[in-house]
Amino acid sequence: MIIEPAMAAFVTGAGSGIGRGMALALARRGVQVGVCDIRGGDAADTVRQIELAGGKAMAVGVDVSDRASVEAAVVAVERAYGDIAIACNNAGISLHGVPLHEITAADWEWVMGVNIQGVIHGIQALVPRMLATQRPAHVVNTASIGGFQVNPNFLTAAYSMTKYAVVALSEGLHNELQGTQVGVSILAPAAVDTRIHLSERSRPERLGGATVRPQNHFMGDLLKGSMPPNAVGDRVVDAIESGDLYIFTHPDTRQWLDRRHAAISAAFDKAERLATTAARHAKERS
Ligand SMILES: NC(=O)c1ccc[n+]([C@@H]2O[C@H](COP(=O)([O-])OP(=O)(O)OC[C@H]3O[C@@H](n4cnc5c(N)ncnc54)[C@H](O)[C@@H]3O)[C@@H](O)[C@H]2O)c1
Repeated sequence: MIIEPAMAAFVTGAGSGIGRGMALALARRGVQVGVCDIRGGDAADTVRQIELAGGKAMAVGVDVSDRASVEAAVVAVERAYGDIAIACNNAGISLHGVPLHEITAADWEWVMGVNIQGVIHGIQALVPRMLATQRPAHVVNTASIGGFQVNPNFLTAAYSMTKYAVVALSEGLHNELQGTQVGVSILAPAAVDTRIHLSERSRPERLGGATVRPQNHFMGDLLKGSMPPNAVGDRVVDAIESGDLYIFTHPDTRQWLDRRHAAISAAFDKAERLATTAARHAKERS
């Protein structure tokens, strides 16, 4: 899809980090951006940055884990800027540093509510509208490199589970939208220098409100000085225009996926050996 000036975009989690990077990159191309975040003040800061650079944006408070809130945010952006051509379902939270069996029910609800339901709500609200316009449109869902393999070092399985879900949702959406003018991309970064290690600041009131979750904080050191969010924003703009399904930002992480694929491939080799042996035994018996 060619990004035209004055198109409208809807970017969630745009008050910080990667969402802000995408909002700024789109605004530089003349796109009018609905900067959506549960932290209204942070969304307003992003809008200020966009306006200082000569772009156009509006801040919208949204809790992506709440379907009605997403619908209301979409309506607000649509009223201001017209049909939404670009949807970035990006808001997400990390839940690292705790083994699966110790994660509380409230934490499960939070991580699945934001990382999975948030993307589903964006798809539900925006894809029917995009199809109805019969004009080019694009959905970018933020997964993670953690949506393609589970890192053994950081106790990230719950987070990774949600990101695998985003990958499956997005691959399915891509299949279903073949032959339409709506494209789909999956953003799968590794370390980006954001505030994701402080995710608990954005915990919805409904799910207990902002809290302190020190188990995540070790990531702050890992992320410091890593890829800047603006670089990810530029990659996303390029991917929308190139129609890329997968957006990988860290080429060195290919080896992590290769390791997983090698293990899966070895399991298929074993299945093949066992099937061949079983077939031979069946033939000998007959
Ligand atoms: N930073 C990384 O290294 C990294 C790597 C891979 C994937 N990601 C993904 O990138 C996305 C953005 O994360 P980030 O690193 O920019 O983190 P960040 O914490 O800097 O930004 C996330 C934004 O989402 C908002 N948010 C959280 N819950 C929300 C909710 N319920 N409704 C609306 N907004 C909400 C936060 O307020 C925040 O502004 C996430 O989906 C994350 O999983 C990040």
